[in-house]
Amino acid sequence: MSDVIKDLSELRLSYEQGELHEAQVSDNPHLQFLNWFNHALTANLHEPYAMSLATANTQGRPHVRTVLLRGATEAGYDFYTNYDSQKGLDLLQNPVAELLFYWPSLERQVRIGGQVVKISEQESMDYYHKRPRDSQIAAHISTPQSGVIESRELLQQRFQNLQNQAQTDELDKPEFWGGYRLEADYYEFWQGRPNRLHDRLSYEKQNGLWSIQRLMP
Ligand SMILES: Cc1cc2nc3c(=O)[nH]c(=O)nc-3n(C[C@H](O)[C@H](O)[C@H](O)COP(=O)(O)O)c2cc1C
Repeated sequence: MSDVIKDLSELRLSYEQGELHEAQVSDNPHLQFLNWFNHALTANLHEPYAMSLATANTQGRPHVRTVLLRGATEAGYDFYTNYDSQKGLDLLQNPVAELLFYWPSLERQVRIGGQVVKISEQESMDYYHKRPRDSQIAAHISTPQSGVIESRELLQQRFQNLQNQAQTDELDKPEFWGGYRLEADYYEFWQGRPNRLHDRLSYEKQNGLWSIQRLMP
């Protein structure tokens, strides 16, 4: 294995795929997001619905990880997880977060910030029952998510045991598993441009109305 790293300052691309103008964007940032998101979905990207989720605990220590977007409406952006995970603990202490989508081949990035709430038990249950059975089993046995497990073998064994036990029965959604919804109060749409003069448009909600601003690249 080589322990020499290439001079990273040599690695650079010029971003030339597109432009973002105030005159083109929707006044409604959710519609603007759907516009870019639907484009990403049809652009043959690898999991364009995977997003980074940044949270922080009350000491201000940030944690970031990837989760999958599972719903996007005016009400907010939904993802599913284990409520006893690190992100669950952060959100319990400090229920604000930011989502980040990066679509490299489109040279686009979207940030969405806001308050995070748990979605209803019914909605979580509906989604849980749509998941493949093995994913349902994994949700049951991988808890507390982010806790330490002795070995891979033990994990497999737990999985196998529940698979055998639950061959015919419907598996109930575990209480510790479900969805969160980020209720957006901030968006930023970033389109890469040549010479690092990127287009950045932010939307902020003030008195119930969205205002759009251009940000320095
Ligand atoms: C592509 C991808 C998709 C993922 N989707 C999810 C997801 O939807 N929900 C989830 O809980 N973890 C998901 N994970 C795992 C998380 O990134 C993370 O490892 C896990 O949720 C524990 O995070 P935490 O310790 O910060 O709570 C995904 C990871 C990757 C790389």
